[in-house]
Amino acid sequence: MRHLLDTKTLSRDAALRILDVAEDMADTQQREVKKLPTLRGKTVVNLFFEDSTRTRISFEAAAKRLSADVINFSAKGSSVSKGESLQDTAQTLQAMGADAVVIRHGASGAPRTLATSGWITAGVVNAGDGTHEHPTQALLDAFTIRKRRFGTDSRGRDLSGLAVTIVGDILHSRVARSNVWLLHTLGATVTLVAPPTLVPQDMSAWPVRVVYDLDAAVAEAPDALMMLRIQLERMNAAYFPTEREYSRRWGLDATRLAGLAADSIVMHPGPMNRGLEISADAADSSRSTVLDQVSNGVSVRMAVLYLLLAGERDDDGRAA
Ligand code: CP
Repeated sequence: MRHLLDTKTLSRDAALRILDVAEDMADTQQREVKKLPTLRGKTVVNLFFEDSTRTRISFEAAAKRLSADVINFSAKGSSVSKGESLQDTAQTLQAMGADAVVIRHGASGAPRTLATSGWITAGVVNAGDGTHEHPTQALLDAFTIRKRRFGTDSRGRDLSGLAVTIVGDILHSRVARSNVWLLHTLGATVTLVAPPTLVPQDMSAWPVRVVYDLDAAVAEAPDALMMLRIQLERMNAAYFPTEREYSRRWGLDATRLAGLAADSIVMHPGPMNRGLEISADAADSSRSTVLDQVSNGVSVRMAVLYLLLAGERDDDGRAA
């Protein structure tokens, strides 16, 4: 793997390879082998132009557990505030020896620009770009669903026959987009539930069904119900219902939680707006995989960094 930029172009084989290597990584963590020597001598740069808790810290933990050196860059407090460009910032970090750059950026397409511009030679991992994609989030979500469904029998399996319902602010969600493509590639059926104003205008190419009634969607007994964060910072009054109306019609509360099938799981990528898209009852229930998703994120990101920096090589000796 040379870069990980999206899930839309990730093949089924490549996705399963990442999930299976993540299983191996999770096994080492459970055996209390806290540190593997695999990436000793490599340097991973976390290049974050937007805020993050889970993604940045888990990439850092993943790199350190593989014995890589880590450089954390946050745009806040950097020379970006003096007008330094993405190209100059990236080349400065490459000059310090970056082998992989993990980038989060507010502009959709920034990771692809970094990977294809020729500015740097490091492998690039998209850690969330604008409203475009967040591929490692979707991979850790798929890993979590697969693990809950198939347990120790997960390796090599896709998600065929499973139904996943994604609820909320689809319009602004890179998590939704990456999940839609990956879940479809892995054989799951995807339903989206949202207020009509929080659905993108043209979804003709999306392999999904869109509905507006959460109670009806819950009654269909999906294998996983994935609640999305309402991105209040990107909202304007024209397309957001009142918070009270949103919570009443599209929030997961105790009543809807009780209406879910016994083995349905409740997911949320975090950070959560408790009391808005998800109640405390639902977030903290035994069906909630919120903290499993966080733990699994470290294993999945270890797998991605491993495949990027120590994985299969092509004939030229470059990461394939
Ligand atoms: N899920 C997710 O991307 O969380 P952070 O913004 O905290 O990284």
